[in-house]
Amino acid sequence: MCYKDSVFDLVKSRRSWRSYEDLEIEYPLFSNLSDFISKNNTGPFGNKTRFSLIDTGKGAGVKRPGTYGIIRGARYYIAGLVRKGPLALVDYGYCLEKAVLFATQEGLGTCWLGGTFDRGAFREKVAKGPEDILPAVTPVGFPAKKSIIDRTIKSIARSHKRKRWEEVFFEKALNDPLDPKKVPVFEDILEMVRIAPSASNRQPWRIIADQGDIFHFYIYRSRIISAYPKTDLQQLDAGIAICHFDLCAKEKGLKGKWTVSEPGQLIKKERHTYIASWVPA
Ligand SMILES: Cc1cc2nc3c(=O)[nH]c(=O)nc-3n(C[C@H](O)[C@H](O)[C@H](O)COP(=O)(O)O)c2cc1C
Repeated sequence: MCYKDSVFDLVKSRRSWRSYEDLEIEYPLFSNLSDFISKNNTGPFGNKTRFSLIDTGKGAGVKRPGTYGIIRGARYYIAGLVRKGPLALVDYGYCLEKAVLFATQEGLGTCWLGGTFDRGAFREKVAKGPEDILPAVTPVGFPAKKSIIDRTIKSIARSHKRKRWEEVFFEKALNDPLDPKKVPVFEDILEMVRIAPSASNRQPWRIIADQGDIFHFYIYRSRIISAYPKTDLQQLDAGIAICHFDLCAKEKGLKGKWTVSEPGQLIKKERHTYIASWVPA
């Protein structure tokens, strides 16, 4: 496993932090984090990410890449690139969430930013080729006490809230809620998907359990967020959900693989897009 701590504990303790102390991430923590993001760079669908741990410099007078006032005091960011291609954003979501959980283990705060960051300013900090996209970034550092911004955004996004189990997990059809008793081995793993972070806290993942041990992942395309032109944030959310499922299943010693093969016989609902399935191996 790539963490010292249980991934279940890391998922439960992670939350978004938007205010940071102006403190240095010292050696060896800086190099451990740097190593982690460069080694854990490939998603389950084979797309490679190229992450950089950016030090924007010490002190109040330093010009930092913009976050529209959302992030306060952050000196360090993780920003990455991925080449356009099938499931590239899902893989990016998977890899950045893996890094977020590593930072959490090391006592560092993070906050996924898919909308409120100045893409141009961050692009200047990473070497970008014509086919590369920079889908999202996160500050990383020592959390400061929660500011008014933190509290306001948390309350607008209702960040502590999550959809109920029966709203996101199904069997056979997307209108047939899954009884947890039918998936005893996977119940705690699915719970780690349920509590994952997502853009605007919309939790677009919908999962159909098939024969008790195959899991088909879909995203629900909300009209509001689909209208956001820069990045398909729901594909990043799908990558985060897949990351939590994958790492938790591995920690429990369950062997499985990801396939992309939409099951024909299951009943789908409108505005749902199939992403991938986890099948036992
Ligand atoms: C893909 C993605 C994009 C996000 N983009 C932003 C953003 O642009 N600005 C922001 O303040 N929070 C952003 N968030 C953070 C969410 O609002 C937050 O994860 C959610 O409200 C749940 O709160 P929690 O992370 O504290 O559990 C994003 C989260 C994800 C997963």
